[in-house]
Amino acid sequence: MTESSQKTVVSSWNEWDPLKHVIVGRADGTQIQSPEPAVQLDFPDQGYPLGTSGPLPEEMEEKADELLDNFAAILKKRGIRVDRPTPLDFSQAINTPDWSQGNMFGCMPPRDVLLTVGNEILEAPMSFRSRWFEYLCYRPLLEQYYKEDTHFRWETAPKPRLIEQTYKKDFWEKWNTSSEEEQWRITENSDWIITETEPLFDAADVARFGKDLFVQKSMVTNDAGIEWLRRHYPDHRVHRVTYREMLPWHIDATLIPLRPGLVLVNPERYPLNKAHNELFKKNDWELVEAPKSVRKEKMPLCTCSLWLNMNCLVIDPKTICVEALETPMMELLYKYGFEVIPVPLFEVSPFGGGLHCATADVYREGVLEDYFPNQLERF
Ligand code: NVA
Repeated sequence: MTESSQKTVVSSWNEWDPLKHVIVGRADGTQIQSPEPAVQLDFPDQGYPLGTSGPLPEEMEEKADELLDNFAAILKKRGIRVDRPTPLDFSQAINTPDWSQGNMFGCMPPRDVLLTVGNEILEAPMSFRSRWFEYLCYRPLLEQYYKEDTHFRWETAPKPRLIEQTYKKDFWEKWNTSSEEEQWRITENSDWIITETEPLFDAADVARFGKDLFVQKSMVTNDAGIEWLRRHYPDHRVHRVTYREMLPWHIDATLIPLRPGLVLVNPERYPLNKAHNELFKKNDWELVEAPKSVRKEKMPLCTCSLWLNMNCLVIDPKTICVEALETPMMELLYKYGFEVIPVPLFEVSPFGGGLHCATADVYREGVLEDYFPNQLERF
């Protein structure tokens, strides 16, 4: 069967089952966001000092789109159906009854917005005002899946108000004037910018392991959001996790499930809760530490770390896409018996991430399984 003649099925329970249908983002029109409480963007040497906003340079966008098209073509060649979002005019100002925002962001990282769990795709709330309307880029696809797969559950989490009380008023001032020691203290208390006023999470703070979902409390995911997910997925076990990472957002350069029993971990971001590793060990999972990136410097205007070398996309339990220059990562994965597909994507990073960020699952063959039958109390 060719990828285009595939029947539409929405279903994906984990990060490793055989991938059959995926969304790959687009770089078109991505913006440096105008000031908003959730985030501070400051690129003084790259034309966008704090407080300024506007499009990423055209030549960067062209290159990023070329690489994303190439990534989509690689996946299609392997028989995987690939869909693409419909970008909005992200330079336009937006309003809700509560606030106005000078521009939006983009639609390169569908993983941030769409959470696929079983036959459901959930649109995440998002805590940046600039990302409030990002779900609209995926609506043409979700509408189509809704028509074509009668089992598809299309869900959206409560749209947040994102009012003043959603954010800690003095967070950035306190953060920017804190010593490194104080910053680590804030980190160890997971005392991030968003309050508990309303449930907030980004889909990319969730790592899916069948019945167990690991959800990171972060700059964009609060405890109320984790509790919302817990109530929303009553048949799952939702584990609240935190790592020793300053200003964390999105779990997919920290914890990457590779296949049953094998998980890639970030050697610099150890879990703050002992139960985290205990749970893996009690269930015979091997935690393998990621090597450092070969890159020494990030791309200009990039908000992600060099740990994007971990942001791999598993195609099936024996095959994985890795960024094309990341040979230490490839060598590690060869040792574990993987076939590695090198995919050049580094220049896409300023548009919102790596290979995992740039995709969202629609269909992976497989069923819901329990990979952690030995649970721990209160985790
Ligand atoms: N914010 C994290 C995750 C990116 C996918 C990082 O930059 O490492």
